Amino acid sequence: MTDDDADARDQSGASGDRADALRADGGDAAAAGADDVTLDPWGSSTVADYRKLFEEFGIESFDELLEGVPNPHYLMRRGVIFGHRDYEPVAEAMREGEPFAALSGFMPTGDPHIGHKLVFDEIIWHQQQGGDAYGLIADLEAHAARGLTWAEIDEHSRDYLLSLIALGFDPEEGELYRQSENRELQDLAFELGAEANFSEFQAIYGFDGETDVSHMQSVVTQMADILYPQLEEPKPTVIPVGPDQDPHVRLARDLATRMRFFKVSKAYASFECDDEERELVAAAYAALADDLDDDEMVRCEDAADWLREHAPEPTKARESVAAKLDEAGMEPVRPRTRFFDRQATDEAFEALIDAVAGEKRVYEGHVDAFDLDRAEAEELARQVELDHGGYGFVAPSSIYHRFMTGLTGGKMSSSIPASHISLLDDPEEGYDKVKSATTGGRQSAEEQREKGGKADECPVYELYAYLLANDDDDFATEVYEECVGGERLCGDCKEQAATLMREFLEDHQEKREEAEELLDELDIQLESSRKRT
Ligand code: TRP
Ligand code: SF4
Repeated sequence: MTDDDADARDQSGASGDRADALRADGGDAAAAGADDVTLDPWGSSTVADYRKLFEEFGIESFDELLEGVPNPHYLMRRGVIFGHRDYEPVAEAMREGEPFAALSGFMPTGDPHIGHKLVFDEIIWHQQQGGDAYGLIADLEAHAARGLTWAEIDEHSRDYLLSLIALGFDPEEGELYRQSENRELQDLAFELGAEANFSEFQAIYGFDGETDVSHMQSVVTQMADILYPQLEEPKPTVIPVGPDQDPHVRLARDLATRMRFFKVSKAYASFECDDEERELVAAAYAALADDLDDDEMVRCEDAADWLREHAPEPTKARESVAAKLDEAGMEPVRPRTRFFDRQATDEAFEALIDAVAGEKRVYEGHVDAFDLDRAEAEELARQVELDHGGYGFVAPSSIYHRFMTGLTGGKMSSSIPASHISLLDDPEEGYDKVKSATTGGRQSAEEQREKGGKADECPVYELYAYLLANDDDDFATEVYEECVGGERLCGDCKEQAATLMREFLEDHQEKREEAEELLDELDIQLESSRKRT
């Protein structure tokens, strides 16, 4: 752990307590020093500093909502799942027994390894909590963005699905598919593509004039993957992924919103405002309404004057909104809930107007409701949209897990066999890889007894926390504390980890064999019908 990390931990209040001993932070220290964070779905996926993801990208810390998650998975408890975007609606659905879904996808570029296991586990856990679960093979993406042939793709696809099932995914309850064979998915991708354009792809992914069209198509396909669980019925949906996939999540959230018929917002007068302008009107209204009798009204022109008089400094928003208020003149300022017509059909807009209960006012592109709160309005907007053939998407949520450190230090990479353990590795080989892993140990046994090991920088400790200790927090804590307390020496520690790894692989591979039959019964085409290009 770097000093900075220690500070961050202190501020989160978790430092020094038992939970802290469970945290698996090895990745940070290994990559400390590099301070640029870019999130590139097709680039190298190391993250030097997870805090930057909060500050620069607006990913939120998972810890803050952990309490609201019913029986959280150990990856959540141990801070391996460190961040999220808008996970609260999913947690709420879980608490309330309402429908929700989880989906993630895998590019079949090599063998599934212990890094993929994190995602498999996350999907499975959500399924066990009552969610609709989806696992997909991103074969179109592997073909378009990574240039794999269909023969290579076929070879690996089966392996991902077998491991997912072997780890506990119930394929009869959930759904497994490959992108290339899913017509409904591709139709959705086409529709979503109508809401995105090339400049946006340029800005988000750095695409340029050399980028293959199929690569771009694989992006809209992933957008469709992310929204696919909502085709039958809109519902909170979580996408468990590594933080490198965050650009995809953000775009999917945008597209989900752009597809909506109506935008529901708060408003104060007949004209449209942006967020900053709206806050200014709200402030003027709050100040002025205070001094009025019940039968008096705040007028737009008075709000304009108030804003000019109470200007700490004249900003653009302040000027523009004052001008709008001037123009509205004597119109009363009154809080209301607005349905803005984003892309509704005429019939849907008419139906919405009819459906608004209580006092309402109809304008050119929007209707204002005076007796509906935001939540009621959102529900009504979605219902009207669904009744008129729209999707009614809920913006998808995501959770992000830390990348595992490679066993050789540095990054865990499929292209460096010694750095990772494949779920297909011979159990003896898995044993050997752990035995030769880098550790956070000291130069000598003596020094280790005196100062303790550096569990926070140790890939072997990470193996315990991410996988080997399984659901047993006490065991993970014990390893941590014995290590930093100097009671545990690396030789024995690795022997124990290596043995557990061998057992895990033996067990997993046995379950994979049992899964074969189940997989064969499923309606999923594992041999591609495409030409061998
Ligand atoms: N792009 C993902 C990867 O590189 C794979 C993927 C495709 C995916 N569709 C998805 C992940 C939908 C999550 C959700 O691994
Ligand atoms: Fe890592 Fe174990 Fe050595 Fe501690 S004792 S540094 S956890 S290998």
